[in-house]
Amino acid sequence: MNITEKVFGTLPCGEKVRIFTLSNDSSITVKITNYGGIVQSILTPDKNGNIADVVLGFDTLEEYINKSPYFGCIVGRYANRIAKGRFKLENTEYVLAKNTGNNHLHGGNVGFDKVLWEPKISQSKDSVSLELTYLSKDGEEGYPGNLLCKVIYTLTCDDELKIQYHATTDKTTVVNLTNHSYFNLAGHDSGKIYNHMIQIFADKYTEVDENFIPTGRILQLAGTALNLTRPAKIGDGIGKVSPGFDHNYVLNNDNASVVKAAEVYEPSSGRMMQTFTDEPGIQFYTGNFLDGIKGKNAVYEKHTGFCLETQHYPDSPNIPDFPSTVLKPGMQYSSQTTYKFAVKHE
Ligand code: GLA
Repeated sequence: MNITEKVFGTLPCGEKVRIFTLSNDSSITVKITNYGGIVQSILTPDKNGNIADVVLGFDTLEEYINKSPYFGCIVGRYANRIAKGRFKLENTEYVLAKNTGNNHLHGGNVGFDKVLWEPKISQSKDSVSLELTYLSKDGEEGYPGNLLCKVIYTLTCDDELKIQYHATTDKTTVVNLTNHSYFNLAGHDSGKIYNHMIQIFADKYTEVDENFIPTGRILQLAGTALNLTRPAKIGDGIGKVSPGFDHNYVLNNDNASVVKAAEVYEPSSGRMMQTFTDEPGIQFYTGNFLDGIKGKNAVYEKHTGFCLETQHYPDSPNIPDFPSTVLKPGMQYSSQTTYKFAVKHE
């Protein structure tokens, strides 16, 4: 196990940004920068031992600052959408940025993906970790409360990238943190993800309107094109859910325990990735808005990466029946997600 660091670039304000390289003994190497907590690359071997980078991204800090569609970052204070950019808490209405049509997305104009986190590294026999801390000030992007956040990325000797999220507040607020990595298990530069097989361990999903805002209804997946309870080829289903998958699956984990949420397998490389989480939902997004953006030695067209964003349901602050995203002073927000990499020899 090893962890090293170097300078990634300099912010316009003059602050230096670092990039950390976490590696284990089975050839997995993960690069993470403390700008936005972005996972910049994940190198993993395929079934023949050939190494490829399986996440979309950029080579330079400038590109992350100027044009990133949330590649690899930590999303917060509230991942996904809040309808009309407003919510009420303890009789006060809070107003947020409307940065996607008439609605709020991924924490606003300057979300947790665009701030500098304080890094701290640690190492044990079986793992290496990068702990990132960020204090989101009371009123930042319209949200109440000073929110002290900690995100710990750990690479283990079992080929897992584990992400632990913690937060505390001094005023009642809402929190929903996730990671927005775009994966392509054939390699980030290998084009459409249609050959990937995916399984999501969910029987239900949250219905949305034409602006991706939940209607509040939780519907059965059985019999719909969204059903992924059995392994399905992404390319087979994607045409039926135009412009692609961008849905919150309601995971089968009623008691908030860690469960397997998804399993993805890419046959040509043999690479497989399992996702485990204690969150109640997962947004399966197939890069529908990618439109030929130039990245690391590649041009990313629509459907060239997929995200598995573990989360509480979109717009929970406005839908009392959804699991609560409210955090009060004295409470501890904690959640965890693990992406586990493997290869299948068939
Ligand atoms: C999430 C959303 C998508 C889109 C992407 C970012 O996955 O669900 O609709 O906003 O983030 O482009």
